Amino acid sequence: MVSIASSSFVFLLLGLLQATIVVSAGFDYGDALDKSFMFFEAQRSGKLPMNQRVKWRGNSGLRDGFLQGVDLVGGYYDAGDHVKFGLPMAYSVTMMSWGAIEFRREIVGLNQMGHTLAAIKWGTDYFIKAHTQPNVLWGQVGDGDSDHYCWERAEDMTTPRTAYRLDPSNPGSDLAGETAAALAAASIAFKPYNSSYSNLLLVHAKQLFSFANTFRGYYDDSIACAKQFYTSSGYSDELLWAAAWLFRATNDEYYLKYVADNAASMGGTGWAVKEFSWDNKYAGVQILLSKVLMDGGGGAYTSVLKQYQAKADFFACACLQKNGGYNVATTPGGLVYVREWNNMQYAASAAFLVAVYSDYLSQSHAVLKCPDAQLQPQDLLNFANSQALSLLSN
Ligand SMILES: *[C@@H]1O[C@H](CO)[C@@H](O)[C@H](O)[C@H]1NC(C)=O
Repeated sequence: MVSIASSSFVFLLLGLLQATIVVSAGFDYGDALDKSFMFFEAQRSGKLPMNQRVKWRGNSGLRDGFLQGVDLVGGYYDAGDHVKFGLPMAYSVTMMSWGAIEFRREIVGLNQMGHTLAAIKWGTDYFIKAHTQPNVLWGQVGDGDSDHYCWERAEDMTTPRTAYRLDPSNPGSDLAGETAAALAAASIAFKPYNSSYSNLLLVHAKQLFSFANTFRGYYDDSIACAKQFYTSSGYSDELLWAAAWLFRATNDEYYLKYVADNAASMGGTGWAVKEFSWDNKYAGVQILLSKVLMDGGGGAYTSVLKQYQAKADFFACACLQKNGGYNVATTPGGLVYVREWNNMQYAASAAFLVAVYSDYLSQSHAVLKCPDAQLQPQDLLNFANSQALSLLSN
């Protein structure tokens, strides 16, 4: 089964929009990007707009949440199923927003910014609805067991549409943190286009971060039926990730101090990872914070940001197989191979991160010093491109 987080080839494509390689080896990445947004349209739940391009999809889930007195109409279905799982949905929105921020010029050049913002907003409008009080976030609609037992069209759904919520007695720092990150990143993406919507997103992002940070817990302890499908391995990464995005969105030192003060205790500078996914955000945090450092914005936190960047380097060097033996596993053809189930998501997200890092390095005229080699930004971009070519030809 293909989920919105795992099939999000769109992340990779967003990372590859540098004009020089939009058409590479006969592949038209601009066209592939357009089709990736069509995939997100097909995953839409709720009342569909007139300009919906995927015409075989009709309105569905129009009473989601009503039994519990809350309007949860909208958002994205996860996969070939009709559960609205909060964690992968929020992660997908964070990543699309990151792409929209980092590659704005390229996306506009391809006439795709309208579709990009629409794809983000389909998620963020839903998160705003689901965030009914500062410390309440509805985190799921439907459950995987009853949903998977009955295969039918979303438009004909007869399965229970039970909604599940987080609140101070049922916390979920990972899910609330990721949703805060998504809203903060989306607020940056929307800023040049709609400042009032951008401000609204930021209000929700700040409240959700505070909720996530104050009431600590694993979301799948509170929403137990999520455990079998999207088990969370921890929430420290999402707290750092949300704070890093909030810092970028607000420039408020409070958030920079948070990632600095909690760098060691939350694993941000201690944990060198080789995977970036809906569950594990560390490499993303490390690369985002490297940008703050490279832009000279570290101030009193410069030394801890250098530790973050050392781990960002580790990730990129591991992807490029230059990390003194501690490399990311690949297939014989060179595709990143993290695990058997849904592997493409890891290749796509690694390629996205490395492409973004390549841009950050090149903007500050830096190189990547790995244990086995010194790499240029172009080498990182070549890696991202190699993953796209593997994915497209598989
Ligand atoms: C900005 O976003 C708000 C909230 O979604 C919407 O009501 C408004 O029409 C948007 N403004 C523009 C200019 O698109």
